[in-house]
Amino acid sequence: MAVRPDNRPIGVFDSGLGGLTAVKELLTLLPGEDIVYLGDTGRVPYGTRSTETIIKYTEQAFAFLMGQNVKRIIVACGTVSSVALGKAKLPPVPVTGVVDVAAEAAVARTKNGKIGVLGTPATIASGAYEKRIAKLLPSAECFSVACPLFVPLVEAGRFQQGDKVVELVVSEYLEPLQNAGVDTVILGCTHYPLLADVIGAHMGSGVALINPGAEAVQFVASAQKKEGAADRPLGTAKYFVTDSVEGFALSAARFLQRPVAGSVTKIEIERG
Ligand code: DGL
Repeated sequence: MAVRPDNRPIGVFDSGLGGLTAVKELLTLLPGEDIVYLGDTGRVPYGTRSTETIIKYTEQAFAFLMGQNVKRIIVACGTVSSVALGKAKLPPVPVTGVVDVAAEAAVARTKNGKIGVLGTPATIASGAYEKRIAKLLPSAECFSVACPLFVPLVEAGRFQQGDKVVELVVSEYLEPLQNAGVDTVILGCTHYPLLADVIGAHMGSGVALINPGAEAVQFVASAQKKEGAADRPLGTAKYFVTDSVEGFALSAARFLQRPVAGSVTKIEIERG
């Protein structure tokens, strides 16, 4: 039986800018889909907050996106996916997190079984990536590093190669992975692929970098074929943030390499 087109938007949620790494992939793989992006920029970072708080913010984000009539939600946030997805009340549409898909991609890529995991303090404390990898490849060795300074740097628009502060912070966080000889690194927070050029240059071309937002979108692209993709050639993207639009619009346009001005709106998300 033919699948009926579904022109409702796809919701993408992150604590800030990081989910744009999923949007970039969506624009390429599913150009006909409308996108509703929620970046909770007024409350970023989530990665240093308690589990209860992250669950509360996640449920508020789901409620907002459901109000936008989305057909599915991509949780383009490593922290929410690791800490809250098993515990938060889920909305009545499919929800895709980043942990399982990124762990599967890492296991498929590694040759020596040594996998680095970079994440926020909350993600690393949860052990979510490591548990998933252990199930998929019990012989794998994981080397995990919490990188609390990466999210504030990215949110401040500092992710270019040659930025002295960025280079210094990256070299400190990557040292244990270099010493361990990992051949695959999960950029376990969706903000980190914005630093991929710097991280890749430090790790060397022989090391595979796994982009969790992109992996989630690849999963969603095949799911959409079964569930009903949009039947238009080009969709639209709307961005909602919980802090000022200017900084977000600037970094988003730079990262996505397309104008976003006019499609970014500040909202008040319910404070519970
Ligand atoms: N992009 C989020 C993640 O993937 C950022 C985390 C944060 O807000 O601390 O974990």
